[in-house]
Amino acid sequence: MAEKVTVADFRRMKGEGTPITMLTAYDCNLARLVDEAGIDSILVGDSLGNVVLGYQSTIPVTMDDMIHHVKAVSRGTRRALLVGDMPFLSYHLSRERAIANAGRFLQEGGAQAVKLEGGREVAEAIRGIVEAGIPVVAHLGLTPQSVNQLGGYLVQGRDEKAARKLIDDALAVEEAGAFALVLECVPEALATYLSRELSIPTIGIGAGAGCDGQVLVSTDMLGLYGNQPPRFVRQFANLNAQIREALAGYREEVRARTFPAAEHTFAMPEGILEKVTG
Ligand code: KIV
Repeated sequence: MAEKVTVADFRRMKGEGTPITMLTAYDCNLARLVDEAGIDSILVGDSLGNVVLGYQSTIPVTMDDMIHHVKAVSRGTRRALLVGDMPFLSYHLSRERAIANAGRFLQEGGAQAVKLEGGREVAEAIRGIVEAGIPVVAHLGLTPQSVNQLGGYLVQGRDEKAARKLIDDALAVEEAGAFALVLECVPEALATYLSRELSIPTIGIGAGAGCDGQVLVSTDMLGLYGNQPPRFVRQFANLNAQIREALAGYREEVRARTFPAAEHTFAMPEGILEKVTG
């Protein structure tokens, strides 16, 4: 088995200029595929709410939802660094609650790190969690848990004030001890600047090629999620179309009695049925 990816590997890869690969997963089977493909890190994102649980946003996702799925993903993960996403309000109420909730991801879920959204306003929570020995990935730019405050799923950091704030927030989460920073829907020039300025690796999603790594929602890049994916996603497969075709094939074959065929059927020794039925 290849060696487990660690936080130290993230640091080393940034130093070497080796791009870090990260994808989301929500169950054991997909996690196994992602892990075996040699992806460096698996994120159990709270995008779980949208792409698996059928919510319109990530806001209804609970700690128990997340732990349930992190446990499943950890059963399918051998090599990748497993990161659990802290859901809405699980790290805002107090430093103690933030540490306790982060701890559940490692103790119950089997993750090696947690991710949380926000900048200077969550720096205290990051510091507390890191001091408890739990590695933290920060997340800036489009932070979906704040969609109601941001006014939609929009590119962030475009004007002078917003760009200054993003830089200040990035420095704050780095200083608080985050070991990596997800930058979502940030102009490429700003993400590239931050990737040069920060000592910790940036993992971009809709933030251009200048980041130290990339992350995508697996269901988006696999074409598994029925909705139109965001513009920054490349669909590396169209599984939705393949699944639809397979389902229609099953329906037709059952109706035509061509499935099940002989090879899907079990026989019993001759004479038994006659004995049983008289
Ligand atoms: O929840 C999630 O999947 C995420 C990624 C988009 C980074 O936060």
